[in-house]
Amino acid sequence: MTQLTLDMILEGEPYASVEPHHMDELSLQEVIVDLNVGSILNCGGHSYPREFWLDLMTRIQDKAKETPNQIPVLYGIDAIHGVTYTDNSTLIPQQIGLACSWDTSMVKSLAETAAYEVRASGIPWNFSPVLDIARDPRWPRFWETFGEDVKLVTDMGSAMVDGYQGSGDEIDSVHVAACLKHFLGYSVTLSGKDRTQAWVPERQLREYFLPGFEEAINRGAKTIMVNSGEMNGIPVHVNPAILTDLLRNELGFQGMVVTDWEDIKYLVSRHKVAATYKEAIKMAVDAGIDMSMVPTDLEFPVLLKELVEEGEIAEARIDESVRRILQLKFDLGLFDAKVPSLDDYPDFASAEARASALEAARASIVMLKNENALPLNGGERLLVVGDNANSLNVLNGGWTRTWQGVDPQYNTPDMPSFLEEVQSLFASVTYMTNDQFLTSRGVSADHVIAFLGETPYTETPGDIEDLYLPGNQIEVIGKLGELTVPTSLILAEGRPRTFGELPEGIDAFILAMLPGDQGGRALVDVLLGEHNPGGHLPFTYPRYPSAHTTYDHKYTDMMHIDFSTNAVNPLYEFGDGLSYTKFEMSDLSLSADTLAVGGTLEVSVVIKNTGELAGSDVIQVYVSDSVATITPSVKRLRAYRKVQLDAGASQEVQFSIPVQDFAFVGIDNEWVVEPGVFGVLIGDMKETLIVK
Ligand code: BGC
Ligand code: BGC
Repeated sequence: MTQLTLDMILEGEPYASVEPHHMDELSLQEVIVDLNVGSILNCGGHSYPREFWLDLMTRIQDKAKETPNQIPVLYGIDAIHGVTYTDNSTLIPQQIGLACSWDTSMVKSLAETAAYEVRASGIPWNFSPVLDIARDPRWPRFWETFGEDVKLVTDMGSAMVDGYQGSGDEIDSVHVAACLKHFLGYSVTLSGKDRTQAWVPERQLREYFLPGFEEAINRGAKTIMVNSGEMNGIPVHVNPAILTDLLRNELGFQGMVVTDWEDIKYLVSRHKVAATYKEAIKMAVDAGIDMSMVPTDLEFPVLLKELVEEGEIAEARIDESVRRILQLKFDLGLFDAKVPSLDDYPDFASAEARASALEAARASIVMLKNENALPLNGGERLLVVGDNANSLNVLNGGWTRTWQGVDPQYNTPDMPSFLEEVQSLFASVTYMTNDQFLTSRGVSADHVIAFLGETPYTETPGDIEDLYLPGNQIEVIGKLGELTVPTSLILAEGRPRTFGELPEGIDAFILAMLPGDQGGRALVDVLLGEHNPGGHLPFTYPRYPSAHTTYDHKYTDMMHIDFSTNAVNPLYEFGDGLSYTKFEMSDLSLSADTLAVGGTLEVSVVIKNTGELAGSDVIQVYVSDSVATITPSVKRLRAYRKVQLDAGASQEVQFSIPVQDFAFVGIDNEWVVEPGVFGVLIGDMKETLIVK
């Protein structure tokens, strides 16, 4: 039930392992043989070559064979956008970028590749996906999610779980156990800062936070990680209502529950619900945790054993967790498997894997404005502005080669930054930092691109005091808008940082989010028209820091100071995204105008590519409930499909939507469909359905 960080068996102190890292044989003996520690996680602070991982794994598993029952160690890692702690691995876009694709089959196949590369590193367990919903851009883990919408998060999350785990109860040697996180109610802290208190009423908990987890559990997800925060005044790690009543008794989750980082100790040092570490252990184990991500002390197993001997924790409770942990080790084949050798996974970081990561990076790019400024032809004299333009790290974001993702020394060799990619594909490129641009007098270029956004952060270090783009970037945007030559703005960022209005004078705006190692290439492909952008926002882009409202807001959110209903006025809406071609939708029709609660609605619509290039669009079907016991959202996404069409081509697209999907969590906190009048909306078309 004990999980330690790798630091604990490396030479040196935790967070300060001796470089170059190597195993400390005495610590290994103590941890594995004397204390019977069953799980180890992550790295001593940065990525390693595959050889090094395989050697570590061999030493750890060999040591485990010296214990009486020879129980193998379960190794876990944050391989959240590819196996980021293995040098040279294939890095795909972060989850927020994947969500911009609205393409769940692509996500599944990327997760398969990631699983393969995790296994190729000798590791069978991945702390991914994040199924929290991003309802607040202040929250520093926004980019680790699939965005603000419940359906998109649910679909993307379960596709990722399918890709990681494969099918069947047992997980073969090219798949890994997924870990759904962070259960439950993590993302909406009152302050917007990481691991601060959240207030989440049961209705919203069930309607917004739970569905993604529930679906992934139904697909067989093996493990769950607990929310480090406190919800409604109760740290989730000690809350049996969440960890046992809801997760086990109601959802029937059979898998293993791991705490988050150091969270049992934080019950004492941060949350103040326990006076001693020992008391905190009792509370968390009684609430339902199976494994403690300790991760930097050797006391947990000792204190846990004492608690059982003193009759404070029932032995049956321990047996239950141990059975789940052993079951997982069996399901992963750890008892039979030997640590792979370097030759066993010949497709690690293969050309095909890289190619699919490039495809994903392209699919993640969202074009939000283009007034005949793009595409370019490569012959232009280009000026690139931006302190971030020459950094591969800003394309990858956090959890990249290091926890914070900021140290370039571990970057994938030969992967170009945006600036380097532009320099290799455009005839003439000059570069200026933000300051150089702001103090320059006039520019001489055919097109100016400002590449702005955020530098990487993970968790608490990403907390902000202000949603506005940091530093002097607002001034850069202002000055860019005043130029008389054509201009483009590119933002690479983990959350929608505000900048007020987009100046009229900026001709094109491309949002790259965190596209990964191949983001530079993908962006240049878009600039040159070699890829026709087709990404769509999986979140609402606010215009001002205090004006954030998700697309599925309530009618009251629309009340304006002038008493009109115009208060919701984001810069860009959920679902927005342009292409170099144009799409038109027509002929929305419903299979019935009246249906019973148990019925299924067939929706059909015609989409036509009326432009001159092949391209893709995402048809989004929203449903609005006119009157309900619980105030209805103005609309909710109920179906969507990405459609690829040649120039001039059109297609009739059908959706089957069970009326049950119109349900909300009602007055008794149970899901209910209330008969009444519903609107079905696609684009600016609307049809009405009566549910009897
Ligand atoms: C994060 C988790 C992560 C874990 C292990 C925690 O700080 O909240 O998302 O999986 O550390 O690194
Ligand atoms: C871990 C994080 C953790 C952090 C705390 C990192 O090494 O990967 O998950 O939150 O340390 O310092």
